[in-house]
Amino acid sequence: MGRKRVLSGVQPTGALHLGNWVGAIRNWVALQHQHDTFFCVVDLHAITVPHDPALLARQTQQTAALYLACGIDPQLATVFVQSHVPAHSELCWLLNCITPLNWLERMIQFKEKASRQGSQTSVGLLDYPVLMAADILLYNADLVPVGNDQKQHLELARNIAQQRLNGQFAAAGATILNVPEPLIFPEGARVMSLTDGRNKMSKSDPNDNSRINLLDPPELVCKKIKRAKTDGAMGLTFDDPERPEAVNLLALYALLGHRSRAGAAAECGQMGWGQFKGMLSEVVVEALRPIQQRYGELMADPATLDHVLSRGRQQAEMVAQASLERVRTALGLTPRPPEIP
Ligand code: AMP
Ligand code: TRP
Repeated sequence: MGRKRVLSGVQPTGALHLGNWVGAIRNWVALQHQHDTFFCVVDLHAITVPHDPALLARQTQQTAALYLACGIDPQLATVFVQSHVPAHSELCWLLNCITPLNWLERMIQFKEKASRQGSQTSVGLLDYPVLMAADILLYNADLVPVGNDQKQHLELARNIAQQRLNGQFAAAGATILNVPEPLIFPEGARVMSLTDGRNKMSKSDPNDNSRINLLDPPELVCKKIKRAKTDGAMGLTFDDPERPEAVNLLALYALLGHRSRAGAAAECGQMGWGQFKGMLSEVVVEALRPIQQRYGELMADPATLDHVLSRGRQQAEMVAQASLERVRTALGLTPRPPEIP
């Protein structure tokens, strides 16, 4: 048995924050040793809603650099930018033509985002999940690490692969592309907003004080934690659902301070908020320090990042082209004629 193939990606919209690290990238780092891993920056997804071109270009580089700074090792994993591999757009078109429209119209994320965009909703936003299916199916991924909110999109990718592609176009008993499984990480993976413990920490929250970005300097981290929402009770605990802020910050303290949850609860059970916030700030700053240092080194040496992304593009393209050819052939598209020497 070969190693299992893993693919995942994050959109280069907004700065990556603690939630993205704890809930996504940190898990990818753990997977790269035992799996055949592909991690992309999904820039084509980022243009499905209105965007600023100059900012997108900057954030695409920044996101790729942060993957590496967080410990993704390009010797082990393939790191690339989605739009650098045109097969993503090509497979998306082929899948578009075999995916029923009503499968897309019922996607929760589409309905939510479309209700905000109204008459400006783009065709791309509706098509977002098919592009995501193309990302996954192109690499014949076995496992796709995603947050809970992406489960529905993954189910769609599975249905497209199984019912449409393999079901309608493969010879009996054969498969054209692999049907992927989601890899949802267990509890502790959700980091909540600093300004409201019932909401997820999110790139799209207009209030920057609601999140700790991976590149926030230490003073800003301390300031945000100092201002973070608290409650009137004394002592931090995991046991009171009426105190979501206490639960969230104590969980962060345990995780980033390398303590067990029981250990953190015992340590902070009688502590006042002021003292706790000081300790939490220290732990967060220390956790981010090595990431920020590696990020700084990478940004000071753009040739290294360029090299990683060109190698990543080449490796990704090899795998993606082979899958694309299989789908093209299955759908009856004639082979591309060879180049004339
Ligand atoms: P997004 O920031 O929505 O593009 O998400 C990128 C990845 O980070 C996905 O795998 C999410 O599940 C994960 N993620 C985003 N926000 C959080 C959060 N607050 N806590 C844990 N994981 C998160
Ligand atoms: N939609 C995913 C998110 O918002 C990002 C994404 C795009 C993705 N393509 C993917 C995740 C392929 C996993 C695999 O988090």
